[in-house]
Amino acid sequence: MAGIYIHVPFCRKKCSYCDFHFSTNFEGYRGALISKIGEEIAYRKDELPFPIETIYFGGGTPSILHKEELKVIWDSITHHYDISSLTEVTLEVNPEDVNEKNLSVWKSLGVNRLSIGIQSLKESDLRWMNRAHDTTDGFRAVEMAKEFGFERINVDVIYGLPDLSMAEWSSALEKVVLLPIDHISAYCLTVEKKTALNNFVERGQIVIPTEDAITEQFEVLVEKLSLHGFMQYEVSNFARDGREAVHNTNYWRGVAYSGFGPSAHSFNGTARRWNIANNLLYNRVNFSEDSWYEEEMLSTENQWNELFLTGLRTKWGVSKEVICRFGGLQKAETLKLEFWGNQNCIKESEYSISLTRKGMLLADKIAQDFFRLTK
Ligand SMILES: C[S@@+](CC[C@H](N)C(=O)[O-])C[C@H]1O[C@@H](n2cnc3c(N)ncnc32)[C@H](O)[C@@H]1O
Ligand code: SF4
Repeated sequence: MAGIYIHVPFCRKKCSYCDFHFSTNFEGYRGALISKIGEEIAYRKDELPFPIETIYFGGGTPSILHKEELKVIWDSITHHYDISSLTEVTLEVNPEDVNEKNLSVWKSLGVNRLSIGIQSLKESDLRWMNRAHDTTDGFRAVEMAKEFGFERINVDVIYGLPDLSMAEWSSALEKVVLLPIDHISAYCLTVEKKTALNNFVERGQIVIPTEDAITEQFEVLVEKLSLHGFMQYEVSNFARDGREAVHNTNYWRGVAYSGFGPSAHSFNGTARRWNIANNLLYNRVNFSEDSWYEEEMLSTENQWNELFLTGLRTKWGVSKEVICRFGGLQKAETLKLEFWGNQNCIKESEYSISLTRKGMLLADKIAQDFFRLTK
């Protein structure tokens, strides 16, 4: 099995915190770029010799696309790949794009999972974030999608926001869990360089909460969501009724995927590659001649490091059988395992090493303790 990721590098507005690849000035070339993505999908058809299980339209803002544009991409996938095992087709959606016409287009094209970016339930947050919607739009979008028959809906929310009191955070979560959704992705706000948020923080206009406050928000998040049936299966991801995102879970399990479009990443089991992150240059590429992506073969050490970095973030942890295939833990790593076990951050079963709820708070730091030097 394998996955397909499509990167749609267009956005209506530039959110102040976001450093994903996108342009807000794309009307002049949008059609050409979509055709180019269709071409790339066809050109790379032999790279994935497995049936496709999941397709993920991400961005940027894929919900900006018109029916004809989505169809160009869809047709290219269905003509060139084996989709007989396709189970999950996710579309990232911005709340302002949810209306009956679009919902009907998405449904007719086989999209069966929507990921809606509501981000915050505080109007003032959505304003400094420069979002193109308000909190009412966020709720309305979710309700409308559900009424339209979408059974699988995720919402993206961000915590660690400035001036977010615990009472506000708790009350926001109480509202989110009542939505007709089966999945929540909750990300901690990161201040990325070259974003407007970074400027606000440097000028002192926005103050990021302390680590203790963020930890408290995270603890309340995990507690409240689990009380309402949303189980944490990855540091930032929670699902109800076992409705975990197959596409994302496959990433963490090391399943191969091809990413199409500017800046999209791909993984074939041994190498990672990433496309040129420039819309105009991507549009001009001759796939068979030009150099338009970079590639890195993963050394054994890199594979080991990724195993811990991604595996420890999930409830499945790192498989002991896989650890054995790498020759087992080295002495220093066994000591680290003991140390984090004594801190009640790591638990062991017969089959795996995984993090406790306390450990989830420190997932990346703990993973780094197991990293091996790359050559
Ligand atoms: C690349 S965005 C695309 C989704 C969609 N365009 C939207 O805005 O709703 C995917 C998600 O990443 C999260 N995200 C992006 N930048 C972030 C940051 N600096 N800190 C925390 N979360 C971030 C947001 O929750 C966002 O919904
Ligand atoms: S958060 Fe979404 S809408 Fe905002 S700039 Fe990033 S990709 Fe675009």
